[in-house]
Formats: sequence, structure tokens, C-alpha cells
Amino acid sequence: MNVMNPSKLEVTPLSPHIGAELRGLDLSKPLSEADVAAINKAWLDHIVIVFRGQTLTQEDHLRVTSYFGPIGKLGRPPKFFPPGFKSLLPGIMMISNIRENGEPIGALPDGEMMFHHDMIHHEIPHDGTMLYSLEIPTYGGDTLFASGYAAYDTLDPALKAKLEGKRARHFYNYGSTQRGDGKGTEAHAESVHPIFRTHDKTGRKSTYVNRLMTVGIEGMSDAESAPLLEALFDHTEKPEFVYRHKWKVGDLLLWDNRSSTHARDDFPADQRRLMLRTTVAGSVIPA
Ligand code: OGA
Ligand code: MN
Repeated sequence: MNVMNPSKLEVTPLSPHIGAELRGLDLSKPLSEADVAAINKAWLDHIVIVFRGQTLTQEDHLRVTSYFGPIGKLGRPPKFFPPGFKSLLPGIMMISNIRENGEPIGALPDGEMMFHHDMIHHEIPHDGTMLYSLEIPTYGGDTLFASGYAAYDTLDPALKAKLEGKRARHFYNYGSTQRGDGKGTEAHAESVHPIFRTHDKTGRKSTYVNRLMTVGIEGMSDAESAPLLEALFDHTEKPEFVYRHKWKVGDLLLWDNRSSTHARDDFPADQRRLMLRTTVAGSVIPA
């Protein structure tokens, strides 16, 4: 394919603030430079991009991830990898509730997950997450994506002024899906980042705190920070800022962890759900 002449890529927005479906590309084949540039632009414009009906090997999944930046290393220490990870190439994670000998083969196995940014609990969080669905339940298990740009742009000016320039503390036990649920492993990580994050590529600001992992505001007591954080969580999760993804087998999604949070709906425990996940590595967040 001519690099000056991209494929007939169709970009269809999926909600007012976040999400677009990209049609016209078969990701099992290497993409031209022009197509790589076009999907990167769509990602920056729409925060979450959705490709349907893809048939990808693990090698394909890693290749497609690398179109967006360097592949991220798994945050969780190998000692805490679930058993299914043995079948994965380096850089790939398995998200699944399927059980063998009573033990889930993948990470984040069951049910509802609170809104969160992947890897915010690390000093250098990953810019993006790419999730590919192989098996899905007959109902439930939707993934919800909230635009941090829309939340920032519409935030109450008094609250914005109070928090501008401040930093929040984040803490996460790997595997936890609800704050303080005790379901995670004993492995954890913690970090401090600006409450409003400026995107290195778009220059736009997003709210950068989440209900699952954000535990406090630097320089404030818990009594002072708790109601402020609660107000931020409630605002950021407003339905008008959200795109809800209903999965089909063969969906490949890429979301931007700099400018969005995501959550998962509950789903039947006795139905199989299997997804493979990679991340796009990030860089240091300026203070
Ligand atoms: C994740 C995640 C949501 C889902 O993999 O980081 O949040 O729908 N997954 O499984
Ligand atoms: Mn996640």
C-alpha cells in the first residue's frame, strides 16, 4: 500500500465525548505508515478506539500495540501471575474468570470493577491499554469509559481552583476490583500524581483521580480530602461523559489512560469471559 494513500478508514464516534469505531482495517495484516498515522490520530481525538471482528494471534496483538508506542511491561510481580499467564508471550496479560482446579486462570476474574486508570499507582503509568475479547458472557460485563477531558472542562470552577496544582496519592493491591475489598494479592504499588493531568500529545487537561485507587490529597488530612475526592469521583463518572462498550468476540479496544477512566459491570459468575491485554508504555508525568 502507498504510504501517502491510507486505506478507506471510517471513523464513527460512539458517544458525544468519548469512543469511536474504526472500520475498514484488517489488523491481522501489517498496516501502512499512513494507516498507523490515521489510527493514532483517531486515538488522540476519541480517547477510546474500537475495532470489531478482528482475528489476531498474540504476535498480531503485540504488533498492533507497537503502532502506538513501546509495549508496557506488566506491573504485577511474576510471583503473583495467575496460571494462565504461562501460555502468554511477554507483555501480554490474561483477563479471565475461567477456573482450572478452582483457581482463575487470569487476572481481574470476577464481576464489577470500580472506575480506575490502569497503572496510575506507578511512578510512570502506561499511556494506553489494548484489550482483545476471545470469550464473552451472554449478558453483563460491559466496560464503561469516562472522558477525563469532559470532566475537567465542566468541573465546578470553585472546586477546580481549590485543587489546581495539587497532587493526589494512589494505592493499589494487584487484583482488587472494589476499593478495600481485600481481594487483591499482597503485592501493591503506590504513587503521587497531579490531580489534573495535562496530556503530553493533545495539551488538554483531564481529571486524574479515581474511585478504586486514589486515597488522598498531598498536604491535606483525610477529613479534608475525602469529600473533595468524592465530589471529583461523582462528577467524573457522570453518565453524560461515558461510553458503554458491549463486547462481541473479536473486539479490540485501545483506551487512553492519560485522559479517561474505565469500569466494568457485573456479569454471571458461571459464564466464561476471556480477554487478552497489552499496554502502551508511558513517560514521566511533569509535576
Ligand atoms: C483492565 C480492565 C475491564 C474489563 O483490563 O484493565 O479494567 O472489562 N478490564 O475486563
Ligand atoms: Mn483497567
